[in-house]
Amino acid sequence: MQHVQTIWLTGATSGIGEALVTKFLAEGKRVALTARNDQKLSEIASRHQAGENLMYVAADVRNEDVLADAYDKIKAEWGVPDLVMANAGTHINMTANEISMEACRHLFEINLYGAVNTLLLPLPDMIERGSGHLVGVGSLSSYRGLPWAAAYGATKAGLNNFLQSLRFDVETYGVTVTAVNPGFVETQLTSLNPFPMPMIVSAERAAEYIWKGLSHKKMEVHFPPLFSWACKFMRILPYPIYHQIIRRVTGSANRRG
Ligand SMILES: NC(=O)c1ccc[n+]([C@@H]2O[C@H](COP(=O)([O-])OP(=O)(O)OC[C@H]3O[C@@H](n4cnc5c(N)ncnc54)[C@H](OP(=O)(O)O)[C@@H]3O)[C@@H](O)[C@H]2O)c1
Repeated sequence: MQHVQTIWLTGATSGIGEALVTKFLAEGKRVALTARNDQKLSEIASRHQAGENLMYVAADVRNEDVLADAYDKIKAEWGVPDLVMANAGTHINMTANEISMEACRHLFEINLYGAVNTLLLPLPDMIERGSGHLVGVGSLSSYRGLPWAAAYGATKAGLNNFLQSLRFDVETYGVTVTAVNPGFVETQLTSLNPFPMPMIVSAERAAEYIWKGLSHKKMEVHFPPLFSWACKFMRILPYPIYHQIIRRVTGSANRRG
């Protein structure tokens, strides 16, 4: 990733984000970490002993003012980051009896508004500078509806569309936009999934895929390739066939919440 020296990464204390911190530092990048848990941030910072290549600022991505303060601190220390990655996210499986407005709002506020909030903060500075890379972490579940993921899938589909549109709007200013769409990754987010997760990869493997994909500044980084291409193919199947396959694979027709 020659175009990047400094990175601001949200959701940096666990799973994919934590693995990315290790990868980015190993590749000689400067990384600013954000998540809510200050103690976890401090533990990760002392584990890496990365000196001036690592800084952290605790913030909740839902809180515009607090997140803006975090961005200002990073900018004051290192200048406008070269790459900003909105990775913070959460998931709650919801059956028909569990889905509620409160739970949906929670997911929308973190996964969609939180990501948009993160990416809009550096945008004016990147436009003024004439360079920058904005990255949002979506999911392969954004491609098409899945059981128990009505809210989660919608947040990730919304984020993907936001990123696709933004890429058009900012390209004339030298700024680029990428959507990262992972398949299943072994993290605390997937640890409670009550179904088999095909082709699941470790967070470290996910970080390798992301690193490689971001270097090419592509619109989309998706992985693992066999699974993500199968998901892309499923996108074009007629609904009755798609629904039948998904019901069979997930056993959703037999599960009532
Ligand atoms: N794991 C998968 O299979 C998978 C697949 C596709 C996409 N994804 C996406 O990948 C991203 C990372 O997921 P993961 O599996 O690595 O999850 P994870 O292990 O649960 O980590 C989530 C991270 O986000 C932070 N976070 C959560 N809510 C936040 C908030 N309101 N403000 C700031 N930080 C917040 C958490 O730290 P604090 O709790 O301290 O804030 C933590 O650092 C998410 O966007 C997820 O949707 C994951």
